[in-house]
Amino acid sequence: MKKKIAVLPGDGIGKEVANGAIEVLKAIGQYYKHDFEFEFGLIGGEAIDKCGTPLPEETIELCRSSDAVLLGAVGGPKWDKNLPELRPEKGLLGIRKELDLFANIRPVQTYKALQEISPLKGEKIEDVDLVIVRELTSGLYFGKPSERIVSDGEEAAVDTLFYKRKEIERILETAFQMAQKRRGKVTSVDKANVLTTSKLWREIAEELASKYPDVTLEHMLVDNAAMQLIRMPSQFDVIVTENMFGDILSDEASMITGSLGMLPSASLSNSGLHLYEPVHGSAPDIAGQNLANPVGMILSGALMLRYSFDLHEEARAIEKAVKHVLDSGKCTRDLTNNEGAFIHTTEMVEEIKEVLANDYALL
Ligand code: NAD
Ligand code: IPM
Ligand code: MN
Repeated sequence: MKKKIAVLPGDGIGKEVANGAIEVLKAIGQYYKHDFEFEFGLIGGEAIDKCGTPLPEETIELCRSSDAVLLGAVGGPKWDKNLPELRPEKGLLGIRKELDLFANIRPVQTYKALQEISPLKGEKIEDVDLVIVRELTSGLYFGKPSERIVSDGEEAAVDTLFYKRKEIERILETAFQMAQKRRGKVTSVDKANVLTTSKLWREIAEELASKYPDVTLEHMLVDNAAMQLIRMPSQFDVIVTENMFGDILSDEASMITGSLGMLPSASLSNSGLHLYEPVHGSAPDIAGQNLANPVGMILSGALMLRYSFDLHEEARAIEKAVKHVLDSGKCTRDLTNNEGAFIHTTEMVEEIKEVLANDYALL
């Protein structure tokens, strides 16, 4: 299979983890005889520095001419004081909107080997296998107006939480369909006791539920959901929610696994061109030190193989190799309390490649 993959490494540890994912995908390409071609584009802070904009036109064109997009992370203190339009994060929001990547799939799975590092008790996190389906191209992030204003003679600011029926319908459909292939349960998370957008969301969820009689729908208020994720995470199968709730709940859920560095994501559109990125950010506190956990990014590569290229066996090979390395006790610094006993980003990548080499070189 021949595929062109656009790679947007971005800033900070984005570059370090993107390199790791490319190496693992190259190995998979070699063993399974696929021709993966990687082409690099600028996004975020680096794009601001080099092109004066966080999302150059060339980058959008590169993505559109590719079969899938891999993204590292954007942002950093260097650009934190920039005007809103010239922030790295605008590049990320821009590419999500340009490619209409409305469904952000964030799977959360626990590993036995990491039970001790999770702040939750071992028995709480056994059997956790949930997925957060986060709406990604609307809500508070994109609603207008969003600006500084003067109100009653006072300095003020406004953001707008806005959803159209169609935007709610399509993300809920994604969640119902995902639940059909999993354990058949959707938890729709909202704030319907207060927000008008949530009331509309809940109504639409109820309407759609009748189309999916094999799926059980439950509603949960977001404050309760934040608590339930810690109290008993194994109760969840598919969580579907609006953009900002999904952002916050997924960072929270990452700690069930033990580290934010573990979580991958897939951002899907109806066009067939999808983007894959880890859930974490550019981690300025550890950038440039070879300390980042590359697993979230590498597993995002596995999601790309599965969702974009239908390469299920290859995706499973990566997931299995990650598990194998963790089971053997190897971990990056975020995954251990023992300062002396961790391996670096590049070593973690090497370990994963070595498992793949042992398992698949003879294919
Ligand atoms: P962050 O996710 O970058 O980091 C939060 C904490 O988690 C830090 O202590 C960091 O060291 C740790 N961490 C994150 N990923 C890790 C990994 N792979 N391995 C080990 N440790 C990891 O969030 P933040 O510090 O709030 O934000 C930093 C910058 O990243 C900001 O500019 C923010 O806007 C940006 N950001 C970008 C994305 C993205 O590009 N998708 C996501 C979140 C934040
Ligand atoms: C994420 C990030 C982004 C978001 C930021 C950097 C705009 O936190 O991908 O989770 O909030 O969507
Ligand atoms: Mn986030």
